[in-house]
Amino acid sequence: MKYSKYSTVIIGSGIAGLYAALKIEQQVALPDGILLVTKSQLGESNSMYAQGGMVGVMKENKNDSTASHISDTIKAGAGLSEFNTVKFISENSDTVIKDLMRFGVEFDRNENNELTFTLEAAHSVNRVLHAGGDATGRMIELALCKKVQENSNIEIYENTTAVELLVNSEKQCRGLVVFNEITQEYETIYASVVILATGGIGQLYKYTTNPIGATGDGLALAYNAGAVMQDMEFVQFHPTALAIDGEENRFLISEAVRGEGAKLVDADGVEFMHKYHEMKELAPRDVVTRANFNEMLEKHLNNVYLNATCIPKEKLAKRFPTISKKCAENGIDISKDFIPVAPAAHYFMGGVKTNIKGETSIQGLYAIGETASTGLHGANRLASNSLLECVVCAYEVADVLRNMQLKTPKQIDSDIKKVIDKYNPTDDDIPDDIDISALKQELQNIMWDYVGILRSGKSLTTAVEKIKNLKSDFARHTKCLNRAEYEFKNMLTVAMLIATSALNRKESRGAHCRLDYPDTNEECIHSCLTKREGELSFVN
Ligand code: FAD
Ligand code: SIN
Repeated sequence: MKYSKYSTVIIGSGIAGLYAALKIEQQVALPDGILLVTKSQLGESNSMYAQGGMVGVMKENKNDSTASHISDTIKAGAGLSEFNTVKFISENSDTVIKDLMRFGVEFDRNENNELTFTLEAAHSVNRVLHAGGDATGRMIELALCKKVQENSNIEIYENTTAVELLVNSEKQCRGLVVFNEITQEYETIYASVVILATGGIGQLYKYTTNPIGATGDGLALAYNAGAVMQDMEFVQFHPTALAIDGEENRFLISEAVRGEGAKLVDADGVEFMHKYHEMKELAPRDVVTRANFNEMLEKHLNNVYLNATCIPKEKLAKRFPTISKKCAENGIDISKDFIPVAPAAHYFMGGVKTNIKGETSIQGLYAIGETASTGLHGANRLASNSLLECVVCAYEVADVLRNMQLKTPKQIDSDIKKVIDKYNPTDDDIPDDIDISALKQELQNIMWDYVGILRSGKSLTTAVEKIKNLKSDFARHTKCLNRAEYEFKNMLTVAMLIATSALNRKESRGAHCRLDYPDTNEECIHSCLTKREGELSFVN
C-alpha cells in the first residue's frame, strides 16, 4: 500500500471540483498541497454534458432581480427549499459568475457583446446564461480543466476511485483510501480536508440522461462514514430525453428548446400540456415529466414528441447545434420532424446534508455540487440552478478554508487503522466471477419500475426487498476487484437509501409522487438519515 499526505483532497473533476481546486489554490495556504482525484479522465462528468445553461442573476440584466429568482426557485421546489440558502446563492451569482469568466469561461453574447439570457421552464424572466449554444457544460468544463492542468500547484490523479473515507472515533475525516484502476494499486491519503464533488446518481435508473460515471459514489462514501444525508427520495426526471429504441443512456433535448417555443405533442401531433398546467410546456419540470409519462401510459406510447418546427431553422442551428447534430445522426431534421422524447432520470435533489459552506456533519468532510444537499432545490430543482449552485458553493468552500489551519494529521487512531488494513493485500484476494453488468441492469430495472416517476407503498416495499436480495447476490463486502464493482456496491447502498426514504415520506411533493398519498402535507420537513450501529436510521 502506498501512503501520501495533502492539505486538501478534492474528489471529482466536474464543475464543482475543478472550480473548488482553482479557488482553493488561489486563496488558501496549503502546506502539504492540493490533490484532485477523479475516477476517469479529467473532465469526464455530468457537468460536461450540461446543455441549457447556468442561472445568472446578473446586474446587467435589468429585467431580473434576486427577489424574482428566489421566488421562482422556491415555487419550483414545492415548499422544501431553504430560504436562506436560496437567497445566498442568488445574491452571489453575479460575483461568482464574473469570477468564473476570469478563469476563461465565455458565455454567449449578442452582436453588441452583451450577455444573452434564455428562458427555461418555471423561470419568470430570461435569466439563463449559455455557452456554445447548447454546450454550456462542455464550454465551462473545458475552460476549467485547462486552468487546472496549467496550475502546477494542483496535483491530479486520473483513473483513481475513492473507495473509503478515513474517519476517526471523534468523527473527524482524516483522509481516504483510493484505488488506481490502471496500476490496480491502493493508496492511503491523509488529509485535513476532503471535499466530495462526486456528482449524481442517474445510472441507478434504466433510463437516464447521465453518463456512465453517475453512480452516487460520494453519497455512499459519506453515508458509510456516518454523515447525515438529506431528502434522499427526491430524484428529478427530465421530461424530454431523446427516445431512440435500444438507447437507455438518453441524450438530453434541453428545456431551452421549449423555452424558445417548441411544443409537446402526441403521436397525432396534438398538443396536450394545457390539460396539465397553465404554464403548459414551461411548467415546473416535475409537472411536465408526469404529463409526458401520463400521455405515454394512457395512449400506450413509448414516447411523446417535441415539435420544434415552429422555431426558425437558422435559430435552431445557431442556438442548438449539439441537439441538431445528434438528432440528424438519428435521421431527425429538427426543423422539419417531430423529436421523439420520453422522461429519464436526470438530477438528484437529495444528498449529503451540508450548509452553504459545504460543511457536512463530519468535521473535515465537505460536499459540494450535485452530491450535496444544501436545501436550494427543495423537492424539485429549477432548471439551470445546479451549475450555479456548483460554482457558488465551490467559491464558498475556498473561503471557509482560508481561515483554517490545514495541517495533515500526525496520528491515526484504531478506527482508521482498521479501515486501511482492509485494503492491504491478503491471501483471501481470490476473485470469484461476478457479472456486474447483469446485476447493474437488474438494479436499474428495479429503480425504474418501483422507485420511479410514480411510486406507492407497495412498489417501494417491493423495491426494498429486491435491493436486499441483490445485495446478498453481490459477494463483495469490502474490497472489490475493479472500479465497476466499487460503483455497483455504491449504487446498491444509494438505491436502498432512496427507496427507504421514499417509503418513509407519506405525501406527494415535487418530484416525489406517491399514488397512495397524492396530497401534499401542510407540514413541510426534510428527511434526514444516517448510519447508526451499522443500520439506516432516520434523524430529526
Ligand atoms: P459532476 O459534474 O457529475 O462531476 C462528478 C465528478 O466526480 C466526475 O469527474 C466523476 O468522475 C467524479 N467521481 C465520482 N465518483 C468518484 C469516485 N468514487 N472517485 C473519484 N472520482 C469520482 N444543470 C444546470 O444547471 N444546467 C444545465 O443546463 C444542465 N444540463 C444538464 C444536462 C445533462 C445531460 C445532465 C446529465 C445534467 C445537466 N445538468 C444541468 C445538471 C448538472 O450538469 C450537474 O448537476 C452538475 O454538472 C454536477 O456537477 P458536479 O461537479 O457536482 O458533478
Ligand atoms: C436542460 O438543458 O434542459 C437541462 C437544464 C437543467 O438540468 O438544469
